[in-house]
Amino acid sequence: MRKGVLRPGHVQLRVLNIEEAIKHYVDLLGLIEMDRDEQGRVYLKAWTEVDKFSVVLREADEPGMDFMAFKVIDDAALVQLEEDLIDFGVSVDHVPANELKDCGRRIQFTSPSGHRFELYAEKKYTGKWGIGDVNPEAWPRGLKGMKALRFDHFLCYGPELPATYDLFVNVLGFYLAEQVLDPDGNRIAQFLTLSMKEHDIAFIQNEESGKLHHASFLLETWEDILRAADLISMTDTSLDIGPTRHGLTHGKTIYFFDPSGNRNEVFSGGDYSYPDHKPVTWTADELGKAIFYHDRVLNERFLTVTT
Ligand code: FE2
Repeated sequence: MRKGVLRPGHVQLRVLNIEEAIKHYVDLLGLIEMDRDEQGRVYLKAWTEVDKFSVVLREADEPGMDFMAFKVIDDAALVQLEEDLIDFGVSVDHVPANELKDCGRRIQFTSPSGHRFELYAEKKYTGKWGIGDVNPEAWPRGLKGMKALRFDHFLCYGPELPATYDLFVNVLGFYLAEQVLDPDGNRIAQFLTLSMKEHDIAFIQNEESGKLHHASFLLETWEDILRAADLISMTDTSLDIGPTRHGLTHGKTIYFFDPSGNRNEVFSGGDYSYPDHKPVTWTADELGKAIFYHDRVLNERFLTVTT
């Protein structure tokens, strides 16, 4: 059921060295630097995004994710969602407008999986970078590196998948697009969406809470994924796996690490979903194929390295 939550809005990532991180996210991924603040945080966006920023980099002693935000349709929805979150039993904190530059007030909460999320209704509208909204050209000149189109989704590792499902589906209005079930029928992976995308966020069962597996960015074509692989080699960037295809979502993908050890994905294509579709189910005995459709074998690093 629709609750007014629209889409992923932004993520704040911790990085060990801000200049190295900017080189990675701007020169390699192709994000655009939009602003900085007095805390030294750097605000980035991908060129097709209409709001001012989607990735915030913060220098810290440990890598990982501070929080991920979803944009909601208006302030009335934000007020209602806050009530619903409190009724559900999570405590809600308020962050005033402009704590992140040009972003409206945010409400923050922690999911049963141990991740920090936030909701907001307002952010400065800057339009698609370099082409605008009137008679727009196909793409802007001057894009760098992988030319990422948008910040797409997040994959989280943590415990309490059933309670996290309840929160995201029944309180926030997501629906289940894909899942992995163990032999007892327990869900060990849940891919949740607000849209036609196979996931706006996904959770994998994990004992340790609040871990980031990867932040993912959309590219246009398979050819772009191969070109991303070339750029990863050219820049001696740490490769995780790929280029390959997922069984889950059927997206074409490559994984690599930022200089702080946060895992990134760039992907293209994949399936679509509507709320009336039955969830796609993979069984745990086919997990290798579900994750890496070609190799059909899991790589230990992919399962265990998180930030
Ligand atoms: Fe992904």
